[in-house]
Amino acid sequence: MPELVPPLPSSATLVAQNIAKSFASGRLTTPVLSNLSVSIDAGELTLISGPSGCGKSTLLSILSGLQTPDAGHVMALSESLQTMDSHRREAFRLHHTGFVFQGFNLFPALTAREQVRLPLQYLDLSSQEIDRRTDESLEEVGIAHRHHLRPAELSGGEKQRVAIARALAKLPALLFADEPTSALDAASGQVIIDLLHRIARAHGTTVLCVSHDPRLISHADRVLTMEDGRILNDSRQLTPHRPQDRRASC
Ligand SMILES: Nc1ncnc2c1ncn2[C@@H]1O[C@H](COP(=O)(O)OP(=O)(O)OP(=O)(O)O)[C@@H](O)[C@H]1O
Ligand SMILES: [Mg+2]
Repeated sequence: MPELVPPLPSSATLVAQNIAKSFASGRLTTPVLSNLSVSIDAGELTLISGPSGCGKSTLLSILSGLQTPDAGHVMALSESLQTMDSHRREAFRLHHTGFVFQGFNLFPALTAREQVRLPLQYLDLSSQEIDRRTDESLEEVGIAHRHHLRPAELSGGEKQRVAIARALAKLPALLFADEPTSALDAASGQVIIDLLHRIARAHGTTVLCVSHDPRLISHADRVLTMEDGRILNDSRQLTPHRPQDRRASC
């Protein structure tokens, strides 16, 4: 009998049900996530916080289809990630997801503009559309005037804005960020989190961000607090800090 796939709550674009994940090392198996269920809504910035090693990055990578859970389901944009074969999952990730990492993951030899253009070349887009999206994304993150510079010539905050522009240019429905501000000073970190918040609002993107920086909590719409592979607290902020109505600058 086929497994029943749970219905999506109305605004949720990402639903995890009863996720479990363990890692084996020799004869020892360590459970990392146990029976974890969560729904993430579109148009919001959801923050996952919690102590080091509690399973935040593992959860993010399962929700994004990068890793598969040992048990449970992930429904992303009404599709079950578990029923896709690896090619289909790769295509899903290419078309619908964007990633922002702590270490920026930029190519040292490419200019900011080339970094943003690169993934767009794997989508079925005309060169005019690639140029348009590249320019708009660089503009949206406030870095268009630095488009000709390579990572070594950019500050940490600027590098992260290029990485966000690269993700944004794909117009992903789902945007994942793993500790996007940990390599940055407080002011640059705040600019980045404001930017992620604004992207969620302006594009209706589902933005899921892992961070254990307590300064960022007031900037999120919703905070999931994890401990030992479980979600201990799920708090929605009624009046989250509003990003200032200006282009990012630092
Ligand atoms: N590929 C792997 N193989 C073995 N163990 C792993 C693997 N990935 C993660 N783990 C273990 O799973 C646990 C959770 O790791 P995870 O990276 O999800 O934690 P985290 O909450 O993101 O921590 P941090 O805040 O330090 O980034 C850790 O004990 C880690 O050592
Ligand atoms: Mg982590």
